[in-house]
Amino acid sequence: MIDMYDIHNHLLPGVDDGPEDLLESIQICEIAQSQNTKMIIATPHRKDVTENHSVHLIKDLVSNINGKLSQNKTDIDIKLGMENHVDVGLMQDIENGRALTLNNSEYILVEMPWEGRPSYIEQVIAELLQSGLIPVLAHPERMSLFQDERELLGELVRMGCKSQITASSLYGKFGDKAQRVSVDMMVEGLIHVIASDTHMAKGQRCYDMNLGFKFAKQIIGSYRATQMVEGNPLAIFENQKM
Ligand SMILES: [Fe+2]
Repeated sequence: MIDMYDIHNHLLPGVDDGPEDLLESIQICEIAQSQNTKMIIATPHRKDVTENHSVHLIKDLVSNINGKLSQNKTDIDIKLGMENHVDVGLMQDIENGRALTLNNSEYILVEMPWEGRPSYIEQVIAELLQSGLIPVLAHPERMSLFQDERELLGELVRMGCKSQITASSLYGKFGDKAQRVSVDMMVEGLIHVIASDTHMAKGQRCYDMNLGFKFAKQIIGSYRATQMVEGNPLAIFENQKM
């Protein structure tokens, strides 16, 4: 059984559209551990943290959860990051500590707009790259931006971005289109990481890395699929090149 590392997960309680209480957060970690996951980066939405909470609070929540996990002898480690929507203030928020990278590495999880096609996208991405950061694009397969403009992901990857597909997309949980696009993107070599984007312990947005991995192996073979759940995400945790 291979080790798994999850870089996109909304497990912090009461912060965004993730679980409401600590009990459910712990359940998510236990389920992840049962799927041989060694580390998770908690990635609450930057917008929710900025508008309703604070970076201080989410740091406290992570230590609290890690404390509970070691009390329960659950062998999994939680780190902190954020899911950062792209806007013109992102670079400034990184500088003032309101936007976080993935486990304090050079990799930063970036979410493109769900609606529309703002002209500043390439400019913000270029600013991040120029400052030495590596944007990891969250679930492009689910976004109309990438579904409609099929050459865009390739252009951003050539600029230096990495990309993260959501495990559930691979077996159709987000519909036929997201599934088809996710398969195409993987076959074209444009995907670097599979992550869970978990929001709840049970139900539609539960932790399903094992299932995603199983489908990924059928699409691109065991070696490349393993890189996407083990080697590449581990490189992000350890701030190494992938
Ligand atoms: Fe997310």
